[in-house]
Amino acid sequence: SRELKQEDDEYIILGSGIAGLYTALAASEAGGSVTVLTKYNMMDTSTDKAQGGIAAALGDSDSPSLHREDTIVAGAGLCDDEAVSALVNEGPQRVKELIEMGAIFDSDSQGLALTREGAHSQRRILHASGDATGAEIQRVLTERVREKKIRVKENHYVVDLLVWNNTCYGVVAFDRDNDSLKIYRGKVVVLATGGLGRLFEFNTNPEIATGDGIAIAFRAGAEVMDMEFIQFHPTVLKLPGAPPFLISEAVRGEGAYLRNVDGLRFMPRYHDLQELAPRDIVVRAMLKEMATTGANKVYLDLAHLDPEVIKKRFPNITKTCATYGLDISVDPIPVAPAAHYMMGGVKTNLVGETSIKGLYACGEVACQGVHGANRLASNSLLDGLVFGGRIVDETRQFLKTYHPRRPEFACDWLLEPVKIDFGELRKKLEVLMGSKVGPVRSGQGLKESLNFFDSWGYLGRHSAENVEQMEVKNMLQVGELVAEAALARRESRGGHYRVDYPDNSRRWQKHIIFRR
Ligand code: SIN
Repeated sequence: SRELKQEDDEYIILGSGIAGLYTALAASEAGGSVTVLTKYNMMDTSTDKAQGGIAAALGDSDSPSLHREDTIVAGAGLCDDEAVSALVNEGPQRVKELIEMGAIFDSDSQGLALTREGAHSQRRILHASGDATGAEIQRVLTERVREKKIRVKENHYVVDLLVWNNTCYGVVAFDRDNDSLKIYRGKVVVLATGGLGRLFEFNTNPEIATGDGIAIAFRAGAEVMDMEFIQFHPTVLKLPGAPPFLISEAVRGEGAYLRNVDGLRFMPRYHDLQELAPRDIVVRAMLKEMATTGANKVYLDLAHLDPEVIKKRFPNITKTCATYGLDISVDPIPVAPAAHYMMGGVKTNLVGETSIKGLYACGEVACQGVHGANRLASNSLLDGLVFGGRIVDETRQFLKTYHPRRPEFACDWLLEPVKIDFGELRKKLEVLMGSKVGPVRSGQGLKESLNFFDSWGYLGRHSAENVEQMEVKNMLQVGELVAEAALARRESRGGHYRVDYPDNSRRWQKHIIFRR
């Protein structure tokens, strides 16, 4: 056994997207001392890639109660009412704080320019540089963090949480620059590690999104909730040779049509809101059209819209599509659904506290039920702000009386080489998740996927020797939780659809919670 180097701070925050950095800034502002650990580069986050925008009831005809209604309808009977109220009531103020920090959102002659996305009854989505909203938010938060006395450790991969007597005292991290393990002890550890889209072969997520936060929390004994609810985004570029690239829902918000490969517009046959129906409904409609036409894609058609408006409103999408030879003002864009967002995650209460003392979670990794079974578009950046802010409000109080005698960890964490091809294993997992645990599931397919996870169950806690291998092990752990919850839920609701139980059932208006 080896003694590892230790560093102490009050807050140890894992992740550098909107949830992590906003929490870090708010904690620092309130007088806390903060260390942020991030897996790769500070900008490698889902936030940085977000296109559509951030929803907040700021328009003249809008109100938090209308935003609340839309969020609850999209959530398909599983939203936590109080969490939704917190989101919609506190959201506008948090967005104003972002603006005060220097975020520049697009405006028109009326003030802030607000767009619409699926299942929103109002124009309420703020955007920046047209379709690069997340990059603007990431820029501002990163700049403000750099101005503060916040320690940011990039290339730090958290291997495990240090939990003793159901209390979290810190983390063991692997410093990739120095190839060494290190302990970071904190009174408050905040998971803000993002989602798990990378478990699926076809997804919109950045490389970091391998579900590590859920895996380390679950291993440490935390409760996880709603693991079966994964949102698939309808419109992701599907072109041979091109990486999956998100075509923002805001494009449909501005009037684009979906057509099957025979050129027929189909959404009016499926839902009153047509192309702007909730995402799960659009995805299933697309899959049905793809099955009947024998194609692996449908088309997004913008040809009837004003080309100047499109170019101005979606500069990034216009440019990226052009690199693949598509002029989106005339050429239909081939698209297919891809894994996009995790509604479930580490269970928290309304102030971000998990079932482990001293361990908090916010943003995509967390689940307090605000998104129910299906997240409303552009509510995720907002979620990171609101619940990150709540964690800080709560912990400033809690820290006044919390003086844990932190145990010394003489950590014997080992990295043990195993003779398996982790790259090949990862590929198999991604294909399996896409085909058996994707937007359309069956009891049979889910059982097959659980057999796959069982066959890797022999891998031990320490059987990995580098970050890439540890990621694959976390992906196995989290994939199994998703498949198991999906098999248990014998109904269809929101992002979870079972061909063998296609209807929703009143009896399933409840959550599935797992604990090790
Ligand atoms: C998009 O731009 O379509 C993504 C928005 C979201 O997922 O909320």
